Amino acid sequence: MENLNRGLLFYQTGKKLPFIKRAEGIYMWDHTGKEYIDACSGAVICNIGYGNPRIAKAIAEQSGDTFFAYRIHFENEPAVRLAMELVEHSAPHLNRVFYVSGGSEAVESAMKLCRQYFYNTGQGSRSVFISRTPSYHGSTLGALALTSYAPLEIPFRPMMQTYPKIPAPYCYRCAYHKEYPHCNLECARALEKTILEQGPENVAAFVAEPVGGASTGAVVPPEDYFAVIQETCRKYGILLILDEVMTAFGRTGKLFAYEHWNVEADIVALSKGMASGYYPLGAIMARDSIVDKVINGGGFAHGYTYAGNPMACAVGREVFRVIREEHLPENAAGMGRVLKAGLEDLEKRYGIIGQVRGKGLLLALEMVKDRDTREPFPAEKNVNMLLTNEAYDEGLILYPRRSINGLSGDHVLVAPPLILKKDQAAQILDRLDRAFKRTMKKL
Ligand SMILES: Cc1ncc(COP(=O)(O)O)c(C=O)c1O
Repeated sequence: MENLNRGLLFYQTGKKLPFIKRAEGIYMWDHTGKEYIDACSGAVICNIGYGNPRIAKAIAEQSGDTFFAYRIHFENEPAVRLAMELVEHSAPHLNRVFYVSGGSEAVESAMKLCRQYFYNTGQGSRSVFISRTPSYHGSTLGALALTSYAPLEIPFRPMMQTYPKIPAPYCYRCAYHKEYPHCNLECARALEKTILEQGPENVAAFVAEPVGGASTGAVVPPEDYFAVIQETCRKYGILLILDEVMTAFGRTGKLFAYEHWNVEADIVALSKGMASGYYPLGAIMARDSIVDKVINGGGFAHGYTYAGNPMACAVGREVFRVIREEHLPENAAGMGRVLKAGLEDLEKRYGIIGQVRGKGLLLALEMVKDRDTREPFPAEKNVNMLLTNEAYDEGLILYPRRSINGLSGDHVLVAPPLILKKDQAAQILDRLDRAFKRTMKKL
């Protein structure tokens, strides 16, 4: 590691980290040889785990043909074949695919497809997108305008559209101070209220993560939540966009999270698990009736240079096959139950764990100062980072965030690769236990 000028490169902060040397399965090793378990799959992306030889083989094969061909000049077989497989294995009405390279691009593309559909069908007044608070939909300005996580928004507010938000179904901290099922699903019914306030003729779509991701920490909606949402969208002719960037490709125990509630999204945004970190790739899927109106009305006025990249699609296709052939959604469901039960054991032993939640292998722990009142820790204690740093020292990687719109509250995502085995779940719990012991000492 000599002669490396690390100061040149920056991300969110200038924090210095160990260099990665190698990764295999759920394990990673840094340049000193220290082992880590990646209990959050990177940024909840590496669904098939690291170092899968099938993907290396697919890359080698595709590299013999071409890495790149511009979509304006050529069609390419991996792109078409992956689209065929996506359509075959998703809901019957989701029969068209548009490729991108990441989650923010997928969300932006979903918004623009939706907008152009309304523009082309004589409903040009529809341009308002309603989303939820808290939520995360990406970092580009359109996706950020849907996002609700204050620290990411504040500097950029003057540059962004201000779209209306309704409360996420975050029952642990219900915005209405009610309790399910006596709440009449007020958070879902807030959609209709907001549509009426905005004027239904101005609203284009409602956008939501089916199971909450980073911002809420794996919030699972009540069973009948999406039925109310779906009915409201249909009543006012607005589109339902599901942001499955984090939840799709088996993460929640089904191939797509919408399957849990049979909700029929008009557009679905995909990325992360789609190529599982082996290549940048994402997509939106939509129904014919939307896409045809856009294509036949002059074409989609939107696109990216890397869209439909042959190598990305060859990788995505092999990843998708691994996910199906190795029954990873089923494994995520089963191992999710095992890991969640282990986390609930920890909850019994550590009074600072307020709630364990999630679905499949998208799980989270919320930490609180007082379990009875659910009072969060003072923000400056940064308990989510404290626990994450202690876990890192113990060789366990977690995904920390603030629960109360990014400003206070503490949760960590526990979302290991979907190839997880029982003894590995026990290893995660063991290291997490040690991390909690160290955290308690420092509080
Ligand atoms: C639900 C959701 N949407 C969109 C994104 C943005 O994806 P990307 O970081 O690939 O742009 C993320 C990333 O965490 C996400 O979790």
